[in-house]
Amino acid sequence: MAGTFDISLDSLARRSVAPETVGTAGSSAGSSQNGATFFLETFGCQMNDHDSEKVAGVLLSRGYKQVESPDTASLILYNTCSIREKAAQKVFSRLGEYRTKQAAGQVIGVLGCVAQQEGEDIFERAPWVSLVCGSASYRKLPELLAQVEAGNQRVTGLDTDTDETFETPVTRRDNPWRAYLTIIEGCDKACAYCVVPFTRGPERSRASDSVLKEVRELAELGYSEVQLLGQTVNSYADPSSRRMRFSELLLAVADVPGMRRVRFTTSHPRDFGEDIVAALEREPKLCNHVHLPVQSGSTRVLREMVRTYTREEYVEKIAMLRQAKRPIAITTDIIVGFPGETEADFAETLSLLEEVRYDSLFSFKYSPRPNTPSLAMPDAISEEEKSRRLGILQEKQREIQSERNATLVNTKFDVLVSGKSRRENQWSGHTSCHRVVNFTSQERNLLGTYVRVQVIGAGANSLVGEQVT
Ligand code: 5AD
Ligand code: SF4
Repeated sequence: MAGTFDISLDSLARRSVAPETVGTAGSSAGSSQNGATFFLETFGCQMNDHDSEKVAGVLLSRGYKQVESPDTASLILYNTCSIREKAAQKVFSRLGEYRTKQAAGQVIGVLGCVAQQEGEDIFERAPWVSLVCGSASYRKLPELLAQVEAGNQRVTGLDTDTDETFETPVTRRDNPWRAYLTIIEGCDKACAYCVVPFTRGPERSRASDSVLKEVRELAELGYSEVQLLGQTVNSYADPSSRRMRFSELLLAVADVPGMRRVRFTTSHPRDFGEDIVAALEREPKLCNHVHLPVQSGSTRVLREMVRTYTREEYVEKIAMLRQAKRPIAITTDIIVGFPGETEADFAETLSLLEEVRYDSLFSFKYSPRPNTPSLAMPDAISEEEKSRRLGILQEKQREIQSERNATLVNTKFDVLVSGKSRRENQWSGHTSCHRVVNFTSQERNLLGTYVRVQVIGAGANSLVGEQVT
């Protein structure tokens, strides 16, 4: 990953949700678990991060307390990712560590994509697990938890045939300034390599009124940045009678008093229309950054992947973004070593990098996944060759990023400050175009505020600056 941006659906680093409740942990009925505690660890994408925030909210409302260590928890939950094999394997090795916990009276649950993918087989592989629940069944969590609390050893929530979304008034959020908000769950595309349509089920959009109500609540709680989430966020289809288009929803969210930045991820190129670019041009609160995964620069490979666009059609979308009245940062996802990818195909991906000059990208070696059409495709590329191609791709992108970032020296950005370094007067944050900026300031309390920063240096992955007035 060439990581200037931390928006990836794939930051697979292990994260456990911090125990302090920041934001909107509300209360509701059903506080049945006096003294019960939970530990929740999350793998995978921002959708999983946000699902975990909602799951934590449900548990808090049932009277559970969140703890930082699995050792002291009565309920241990893993929210899992199966987008690539390594991520899925990690879950089983983690579960292996908890083999003895059940005997000690602790309850273990597996949530998310591995839960959906492996289903009841998890009970066979790890009989000490008592709850297996995929994301499409989270709305049933209170019910499922009640069964677990009643001592049921094998509780499952594995339906994906739902047209409902997981909405909860008790979401707790981990970041006090930026809130995630899922507007569309599941995926109706059928990319040949991808488990998501299988693990997260069909597309379900949230009604625009409900989205806007939550954004207003977030603004009242002091959030100034919201990130709208969906596997194909721009395929949003308002199920209510208002029938708001995605671009209209973006403008309406930006219009909520108190909101200063609105982001969205991930967009699918096929559904990326001029109306979205027009909205970005019109409303500066819409961040000037679009994540538009291409996956390959070769039309032949794109066809095999069933991405539903050609290289040329994709490049037209990029041209549309480049012609916008304000500069818009563009980032992407790329898979190398898809079955049958030739040297010539790979060269086309490299030439696309030159042509588009992305601000950042996330790159992956193709990983064969269960239940996906590409699993049966011939001409697998060896691991060694995949690694070679990934290395070349990342090196090229690193050069492009270094060059692009170098052109930003002396420019000024508004930065939402989200970090303070241990070093005196050192802070960090993000620009609207989602670059990381490390900067100096003599001020004392900057966290959560927006400051004007002049760039004085640039690396491939971040900028260096100083606060200006
Ligand atoms: N192998 C490698 N990368 C994958 N992705 C999705 N499925 C796979 C797979 N089987 C990547 C795509 C997608 C991102 C979320 O993960 O690039 O855009
Ligand atoms: Fe997976 Fe394709 Fe859906 Fe993205 S659009 S989640 S890559 S199937």
